[in-house]
Amino acid sequence: MASRRISLGMPTPRRTDETATELPDTSERPDTPALADRFGREATDLRLSLTDFCNLRCTYCMPASGLTFLGKKQLLSVDEVVRLVRIGVERLGIEQVRFTGGEPLTRPDLEEIIAGVASLDPRPDISLTTNAIGLDHRAARLRAAGLDRINVSLDSVVSETFERLSRRPLLHRVLAGIDGARAAGLDPIKVNAVLLPGVNDQELPDLLDWCLERELQLRVIEQMPLDADHIWDRSSMITAGDVHEMLAPRYVLTPVTEAREGAPAELFEVADRATGRHRGRVGVIASVTRPFCADCRRTRLTAEGRVRTCLFSREETDLRGALRSGADDEAIAGIWRAAQWGKKAGHGMDRADFVQPERPMSAIGG
Ligand code: 5AD
Ligand code: SF4
Repeated sequence: MASRRISLGMPTPRRTDETATELPDTSERPDTPALADRFGREATDLRLSLTDFCNLRCTYCMPASGLTFLGKKQLLSVDEVVRLVRIGVERLGIEQVRFTGGEPLTRPDLEEIIAGVASLDPRPDISLTTNAIGLDHRAARLRAAGLDRINVSLDSVVSETFERLSRRPLLHRVLAGIDGARAAGLDPIKVNAVLLPGVNDQELPDLLDWCLERELQLRVIEQMPLDADHIWDRSSMITAGDVHEMLAPRYVLTPVTEAREGAPAELFEVADRATGRHRGRVGVIASVTRPFCADCRRTRLTAEGRVRTCLFSREETDLRGALRSGADDEAIAGIWRAAQWGKKAGHGMDRADFVQPERPMSAIGG
């Protein structure tokens, strides 16, 4: 039995990166309404964090003691979220919105937010990244509100491993949430798994089998240096190459032929090696060893309304202040465009001068 490791320590105060006081020089920026940057990319995919709070404490994301979470007044309200997304779709070319956290289901007003965004014109594609805890009670209402798709973060289906990784004994609630999502007709349901060496990596073939049996699309994500404890180690992390090696004895993986279209996951058809039977697909997100930054179509907003142009940004640009001081839509769109112009070419993880962002993943939004 794994030991209980629920920490009773004081929460770690949350450090934040500097809010950009100066916007990047936009004198070279072409006169386009889109969220363009200096490297020829245009962001059409918005990741919007609704809270930095979470009911799990995954080791690669949060410290055991938690963090000092944002207060309700600091978080964007329903109206503020819907307005920012409206500005995104009406003025900036945003086509897809993914709500993330922390854990977005910890916001009781998530249904209202989704309904508001679903009523926009043009209506964006609406998805959710969630740990699925409590989803069984809400999936039908979320779907009725306009939720199109979900990704469930689930790194292990062995309860001891799940608890070791997330520091909470709640696997049964995640599984109930997935069942509820399926019963509500949410389709596809994708499962995101991060593999940690010596913790859950050995379970990968079984986890894939579990997902294939249930028609869930597993996506294995390379661990990125976004942990609050700063213990990420490039030399011991499980790479996409390791994933292929671990799956090869049991499965044959063949790359899918469709274009990737800026999607982070490389997709493979999966067949059982012993029988040749086709079982479904698996995705591998090789953010570290095969970065896809050159084709990145993302812009991010933190739960307190700051633009981050990359998970690894060292700067943030506040939009909430402008919202709350009565700026009009075009003024807010202008600040967002200027911020996006400053997006870096890539995350630079392999460079000697790489510095991990101060915010852990839970405070950025995945
Ligand atoms: N590296 C890679 N993926 C991470 N996630 C959280 N922290 C990390 C990390 N350090 C994943 C979660 C979730 C998604 C939002 O991001 O598993 O599925
Ligand atoms: Fe919560 Fe997701 Fe971070 Fe785990 S990875 S602590 S589920 S926000």
